[in-house]
Amino acid sequence: MDNLTVKDYYQRYIIGCYGKEDFVFVKGKDVWLWDINGKKYLDFFPGWAVSGLGHCPKEVVNAVCKQAKKLMHVANNYYIDVQALCAKKLIEISFDGKVFFCNSGAEANEAAIKLCRLYGSKTGRYKIISMKNSFHGRTLATVTMTGQEKYSAPFVPLPEGFGYAEFNDISSLNSSIDDKTVAVIVEPIQGEGGINVADKQYLKHLREICNQKDLLLIFDEVQTGMGRTGHYFAFQHFDVEPDIMTLAKTLGGGFPVGAMIAKKEIADLMVPGTHASTFGGNPLACSAAIAVIETIQKKKLLENVSFLSLYLISELRKLQGKFPVIKEVRGIGFMVGMELKVPAAKFVARCRNNGLLLNCTHETVVRIMPPLGIKKSHLIKGLSIIKKSLVEEFGN
Ligand SMILES: Cc1ncc(COP(=O)(O)O)c(C=O)c1O
Repeated sequence: MDNLTVKDYYQRYIIGCYGKEDFVFVKGKDVWLWDINGKKYLDFFPGWAVSGLGHCPKEVVNAVCKQAKKLMHVANNYYIDVQALCAKKLIEISFDGKVFFCNSGAEANEAAIKLCRLYGSKTGRYKIISMKNSFHGRTLATVTMTGQEKYSAPFVPLPEGFGYAEFNDISSLNSSIDDKTVAVIVEPIQGEGGINVADKQYLKHLREICNQKDLLLIFDEVQTGMGRTGHYFAFQHFDVEPDIMTLAKTLGGGFPVGAMIAKKEIADLMVPGTHASTFGGNPLACSAAIAVIETIQKKKLLENVSFLSLYLISELRKLQGKFPVIKEVRGIGFMVGMELKVPAAKFVARCRNNGLLLNCTHETVVRIMPPLGIKKSHLIKGLSIIKKSLVEEFGN
């Protein structure tokens, strides 16, 4: 198919709920993507942070192909060997708990919402407090839990049982908690909200409040998880353990996998009949996730993120010194935001035309999330495109 045919079919046959850039990508390898015309792009935002090991990582491709030839799907009313192994591996790298598998971040958060409702049912509590500027998904409940009205406003009436507090603000949280509150959910680093990093003290305080008031603490690590910050999970960076953690994106390395992990005593509230997913924890998905975890370990990708992110952030800060249009550079590991003083979409488009894929979020923030195993030479190339694009867009 050529470019025009693809676009024509989209126009005619696909529901238009996504804003589209005028590109058709047909091939990917590591940090590179190729469009339908054969042009090559350096990808510093692979698959919206899904392709954390880069495009088509051979370990994941091999694991999925091998599993596909053996057994592609088994229903969850039978035991699934790779699902058991995947859960064991996830628990070994996170905290003492149990896993529910699903297919996306929104579903992982839906599972967390339902688990909190089960937890609160004995005391008549059901309300979950989330943070302003957060993002938790697009299902009706998760879009309501998302602390950005623009996503939920068209879908009223919204489900009940959600409240909101300012991010990084304990007094705002305290005033949002009432006798119906059962849980608090937070992204340790807000992604869609513009790469806003939680203060360590704030998270510690949050943990104490949850302990005192018998509230469940949920960390949405859909974006921050699986090595993005240089630890497997951001909570390890902040030294604050949640009761429930939700995952997706890099977990499957390009294959759709979501998971909710909950501490054992809480997890055990989910008994047969309370929750399910037909595809959740499917053998293909679990073999992909196992390959992701093993590759992070074998290739020492956490070390690579910790080491090279210092270089990336310091080079971006040098650019900030040269280009007054850059307001701030912030982030941890390979979850970096470069906030401009002006809307960033045109700059991101300029970078794309110059061969570098980035993302613009929250109007003014350039989101940079390269694959965990990226080499310094690729960072140098990407940074030179960023510099060239800054000059072209804003002068020097
Ligand atoms: C922090 C966070 N939670 C949840 C989601 C929803 O994930 P999904 O699109 O896989 O449903 C996202 C997606 O961007 C996210 O960034």
